[in-house]
Amino acid sequence: REFGNFGPLVGAIDEGTSNVKFLIFAANTSEVLTYHQLPLKRFSPQQGWVEQDALEILSAVLECIEVTIDNLKKLDINPADVVGIGVTNQRETTIIWNSTTGEPLYSAIVWLDVRTCKTVDDLLQTKGAHSIYAVTQTSGLPLSTYFSSVKLRWLLQNVTQIKEAVAKGSCMAGTVDSWLIWNLTGGCRGGVHITDVTNASRTQLMSLTSLQWDKGLLKFFDIPLEILPKIKSSSEIYGYISTGSLLGTPIAGCLGDQQAALLGQNCLKFGQVKCTYGTGCFLLYNTGESIVHSQNGLLTTVAYKLGPEAPAVYALEGSVAVAGDTLQWLQNSMELLSDVSDTENLAFQVTDYEDGSVSLVPAFNGLYSPHWRKDARGVICGISSTTRSEHIVRAALEGVCQQTRAIANSMAQDCAPIEKLLADGGMSQNSALMQMQADTLGIPVIRPLMMESTALGAAIVAGRALRVWPQNTPSSPSDTFLPAISNEERDVRYKRWEEALNRSMGWTN
Ligand code: G3P
Repeated sequence: REFGNFGPLVGAIDEGTSNVKFLIFAANTSEVLTYHQLPLKRFSPQQGWVEQDALEILSAVLECIEVTIDNLKKLDINPADVVGIGVTNQRETTIIWNSTTGEPLYSAIVWLDVRTCKTVDDLLQTKGAHSIYAVTQTSGLPLSTYFSSVKLRWLLQNVTQIKEAVAKGSCMAGTVDSWLIWNLTGGCRGGVHITDVTNASRTQLMSLTSLQWDKGLLKFFDIPLEILPKIKSSSEIYGYISTGSLLGTPIAGCLGDQQAALLGQNCLKFGQVKCTYGTGCFLLYNTGESIVHSQNGLLTTVAYKLGPEAPAVYALEGSVAVAGDTLQWLQNSMELLSDVSDTENLAFQVTDYEDGSVSLVPAFNGLYSPHWRKDARGVICGISSTTRSEHIVRAALEGVCQQTRAIANSMAQDCAPIEKLLADGGMSQNSALMQMQADTLGIPVIRPLMMESTALGAAIVAGRALRVWPQNTPSSPSDTFLPAISNEERDVRYKRWEEALNRSMGWTN
């Protein structure tokens, strides 16, 4: 069919922990033509609990789509040129809803939530799982509050309405992708209940080899199979949008947000690594078609599967729970900043590392890779009477970089040293952070000028399923940050950080 000047267009829903966006890409050039973004609220009804409103997530997505389509019209671009959309989302966050009414049966339990500390302990004691690595061979993941398995178990054990809905056969569960796709394709009037292999691999209920829900894992966590979505590839038509301006448009791609950024950064070969600095920060190392089991605290996850018949490609992942959230905390709770964008200037204002050495470990909800310590909490070490807010800001940025270095060390031991790091995500706009990251890792850090790697990944998988995306996505121009400190200095700073890290562990039971 005939298209306008930009050729076929592909939309991408990017549903992150902090924001929802809908973007329109020109398939031929990967250019973003327009987008709309809305922030998402988070609630903490109890210490360590992190929830979101599933209906707010849905309505923010619908609003972003409508405003973006209006923007297209204002640009004189025909919305009919949008041939399909892809979905990418915060992973692990778990939603259970009533399949008859479409109503959520509880708030979305966000990946950061640590209410399941006791659930994990119970599993360790009562299920004969003597170590957190009891189900890692099948799922690729350790027992942790992070994954959907324990969130689902908690919901099924603690929420009466959910127990009743399960008994009546009117209960559906899923990660955010499933919730959105079910609603967008018709909800209780025939919506499709699916997820893709990358999101499923974060529930801890899927086998990495069969790419299906694993009976042994379902039994271990006591999760009924019938409430779970069907697992699909990351790139195929799942269904059609049933409402609004994109009525009838196919949803043709789905990926967890970190896997989407790996594709968007063009890390398609073994050994290529990206790091996305968002609410948390996540390094993914492409291991091709091999499932590499980490001996050094990393996760094994599905990176993508580009069609029902295509092979699965895997990745080793290092997850840092708190990255951009440290800066939000400095702004909103500590009131040290009026805007997180000030951190770049503030961090550059302090150059003394000897006298002004402060370390900050943002273990607000425990530590993820490579330590897996739910008993850790945040610490700030090295404060003296000359410490200024700039030192704390720099320490917050360094905390992100040193956690990344610990993950890079694990990746080097499990596979091979990383040669360069491709960076993206909102916090990567901070050049002080990027320079510090190059300094702490001792390798180049490359930041593409096209900031939307995650959304691009979702557009690529949808565009490929619809056969409108070119085989090779054109690469974006980028900024390169080179290490500017000696190896000796790098190691001194890392040792100091490790001292602070050790003090953060064992803080809670
Ligand atoms: O695993 C959690 C991750 O998917 C969240 O990503 O971008 O919201 O920090 P982000």
